[in-house]
Amino acid sequence: MTIKTVGIIGAGTMGNGIAQACAVAGIAAVMLDINEAAVQKGIATVSGSLDRLVKKEKMTAEQKAAAMARIKSTTQMADLKGVDIVIEAATENEGLKLKILKEAEAVIGAGTIIASNTSSISITQLAAATARPGQFIGMHFFNPVPMMALVELIRGLQTTDETHARVEALAKALGKTPITVKNSMKLGCNHPIGPLALADMIGLDTMLAVMKVFYEGFNDSKYRPAPLLKEMVAAGYLGRKTGRGFYTY
Ligand SMILES: NC(=O)c1ccc[n+]([C@@H]2O[C@H](COP(=O)([O-])OP(=O)(O)OC[C@H]3O[C@@H](n4cnc5c(N)ncnc54)[C@H](O)[C@@H]3O)[C@@H](O)[C@H]2O)c1
Repeated sequence: MTIKTVGIIGAGTMGNGIAQACAVAGIAAVMLDINEAAVQKGIATVSGSLDRLVKKEKMTAEQKAAAMARIKSTTQMADLKGVDIVIEAATENEGLKLKILKEAEAVIGAGTIIASNTSSISITQLAAATARPGQFIGMHFFNPVPMMALVELIRGLQTTDETHARVEALAKALGKTPITVKNSMKLGCNHPIGPLALADMIGLDTMLAVMKVFYEGFNDSKYRPAPLLKEMVAAGYLGRKTGRGFYTY
C-alpha cells in the first residue's frame, strides 16, 4: 500500500510536527483542527520551523515552499475523505478521541488505517470502539525522556526548589556549573534540553492528562500527578504553547 496523503487530526504540538514531517518527506497532509485559528497556528508553526531549517541551510527556500504546498488545513472532517491513513493527534482525552474516531470513520474509506498518537490511552480500547479494530494502530511520535522521571522531578521540585536556588547561587559564586537535574541530564546523558524544558515542550496539560490516565488505569499511587503540575495547569501555565510553564517563552 502506498501512502500518498495523510489525514492529521489536531494541529497542535504533535499534529503540526507530524504534518511537517510528512510534507518534508514528499507526502501530502490534510491537517484538521476545531477552528480556523487553531489550524492557522499549526501552519504558522510549521512555516517558522521550516524557516529555521532554511536559515541553517538544511533546506532551500524552494523546498520549503514545496513542503508548505503539500499541507492543506481544514476544520471539516469531510475533507479527510480519500486520505490513505488518518493520524489522530488531538487533545489527550479519551471521550474526545472516541468521538473524533467515530466522526473520522464516517468519512474515510473502509480500508483506511487509523493511527492514534495517544500517550496513555489504551490502543485496544480505542480500536475496539471503531468498526475496524484490525486496521487500527498506535503510532506514538516520541519525546525521549521517561515520563516517570519528569513526574518525580516535578514533585521533587515543589519541595526542594529553595535548596536548588541555593545550590545554583553557590555554584555561580564559585564560577562552577551547578549540579542540577537539568545539568545532569544535559552533561551526563547528552540530552539537548533539561527535563522541565522538555515538559514545557510536551505541554503541561498533556503531561497531566497522561498522568491521570496512568494513575486511574494502573491503580498505582506512584503515577499520582504532582500538586504543582495540577496548579500550573489550572493557572494556564501550559508550557511553550501558552508562553509560560516552568520557563517563560
Ligand atoms: N506533546 C508531546 O510531546 C506528545 C508526545 C507524544 C504524544 N503526544 C500525544 O499527542 C496528542 C496531541 O498532543 P499535543 O501535545 O499535540 O496537544 P496540543 O494541546 O498541543 O494539541 C491538541 C490539538 O487538538 C485539537 N483538537 C481538540 N479537539 C479536536 C477535535 N475535535 N478535532 C480536531 N482537533 C481537535 C486542539 O484544538 C489542539 O490544537 C495527545 O494524544 C498526546 O498525548 C504528545
